[in-house]
Amino acid sequence: MKFPEYSERLTNISRDQLLTQLKDQVSEKRYKHVLGVEEAALELAEANQVDLAEASLAALLHDFAKDMDPETMMGLALIYTGNERLKEGSPAIWHGPAAAQIGRDRFGITNPSILKAVAVHTIASPEMDSLAKVLYTADYIEAGRDFKGVATARKLAKKDLDQACLYQMAETIAHLAQERKAIYYESLDAYNAWCQKLNS
Ligand SMILES: [Fe+2]
Ligand SMILES: [Fe+2]
Repeated sequence: MKFPEYSERLTNISRDQLLTQLKDQVSEKRYKHVLGVEEAALELAEANQVDLAEASLAALLHDFAKDMDPETMMGLALIYTGNERLKEGSPAIWHGPAAAQIGRDRFGITNPSILKAVAVHTIASPEMDSLAKVLYTADYIEAGRDFKGVATARKLAKKDLDQACLYQMAETIAHLAQERKAIYYESLDAYNAWCQKLNS
């Protein structure tokens, strides 16, 4: 696979340098997952007319904060969102906005589409542009994923990226509810907005 190069307009780091930093930052299993997400994101980007360098950069950044300690992660996420209600959530949602803040601070990323795609990959959002949809879906269907429903998600992703996103939102919420876990309010807002948009 040929990987895109990052222009100076996008970031102050090269893809190779970012991979080196990522390797130091996350577990080996997570590193492999991130490479899988990049591959899936590039495929989806190509099929959906999304810039390949933006898709690659968003994918390599998306879980950058995931193995940080929760307090640091939440601190970064709060700086990024300015939303105190984030405290109602957990590391599972904080690592998205935390990674966006790292992208902004450490890697000089200013592209709002990349930052938002990374920030909302954990929560989803009522408004997601094509890049956000590509990253959100790639994270769910990358080759290393193995769970009930992944085949359906992969099929949907090939046919209709919007339906793939809504499928993931619904499955994630259903799974959390089944485990009697709280659902972050912004995830419910996103799900409701997407239902309205796609089912009306
Ligand atoms: Fe993540
Ligand atoms: Fe991920």
